[in-house]
Amino acid sequence: MEKTNSGGAGRYTLITGGTQGIGYELARVFAMNGHNLILVARDEDELASTKDALQIFNVDIVTISKDLFEVDNAFELYEEIKDRDLEVDILVNNAGQGQYGKFADTDIWRELSIIQLNISSLIVLTKEFLYDMLANGHGKILNLSSIASKTPGPWQSVYHGTKAFVQSFTEALRNEVKDQGIVVTALLPGATDTDFFSKADMLDSKAVREGNLADASKVAEDGYKALMRGDDMVVSGFKNKMQVVISNILPDSVVAESVNKQQRPADDK
Ligand SMILES: NC(=O)c1ccc[n+]([C@@H]2O[C@H](COP(=O)([O-])OP(=O)(O)OC[C@H]3O[C@@H](n4cnc5c(N)ncnc54)[C@H](OP(=O)(O)O)[C@@H]3O)[C@@H](O)[C@H]2O)c1
Repeated sequence: MEKTNSGGAGRYTLITGGTQGIGYELARVFAMNGHNLILVARDEDELASTKDALQIFNVDIVTISKDLFEVDNAFELYEEIKDRDLEVDILVNNAGQGQYGKFADTDIWRELSIIQLNISSLIVLTKEFLYDMLANGHGKILNLSSIASKTPGPWQSVYHGTKAFVQSFTEALRNEVKDQGIVVTALLPGATDTDFFSKADMLDSKAVREGNLADASKVAEDGYKALMRGDDMVVSGFKNKMQVVISNILPDSVVAESVNKQQRPADDK
């Protein structure tokens, strides 16, 4: 049977960070719906095992190892895909990391790397693939935002700032290209049960220890459906939807104080 990307042969959905957490579940839901995949992450073994796990869906899966903490690697990734003559008709900018702690205590080099990954590499990939999508007259882009984009985030100030950028950028870009056949959608999960918090040194925070973490597969399904419907954004989960509504109404200073209480170390009285 010929492998297709739901809209045509030889087309691919590129997912950054497609080997774990929300990205893996997105890869699963795209594959299940007949999309060929290009999966990008750093760990080659995990890329290989993810490819193996998703073979059951009978789509073509290409894996590319790149560290998107380095923005030059985002340009390189685009060039590699062009050299292989693969057409990306859906781009999922999922890879992202955070760093827990008060800004005065956290490592500036890690924070700069997070800005490169969450913002710089995302805009490089978006710009490069957008040119091709515009030339082809169709394409879809799903950006991993967060409900963190809607609130100042004490204990994760830089991370929340990066997601505020992603959210604002996504809505602006969507508006610019809306009449040119391109869909741009933001997926806003709340706290979700993945390795994110371990990578961010955040396992001791109240939000993680006492929070009710969402299921990554449900988040991915919400994102896939919103993109296919052509929605501008989707907040995954009822409680998170309510939280966004409330934080849109309250002054930022009040929201920041409330987020501080949610995110501080669980042992802090
Ligand atoms: N989990 C949550 O509570 C939550 C909530 C809202 C939004 N989000 C957002 O959802 C997205 C996915 O998060 P997640 O929770 O699924 O994280 P995760 O479970 O830690 O998975 C992260 C994925 O990104 C890849 N990755 C990490 N750093 C990378 C780098 N420098 N270059 C290339 N790939 C990299 C990882 O593979 P390698 O390590 O092999 O590179 C992995 O495949 C992020 O943008 C995050 O901000 C998460």
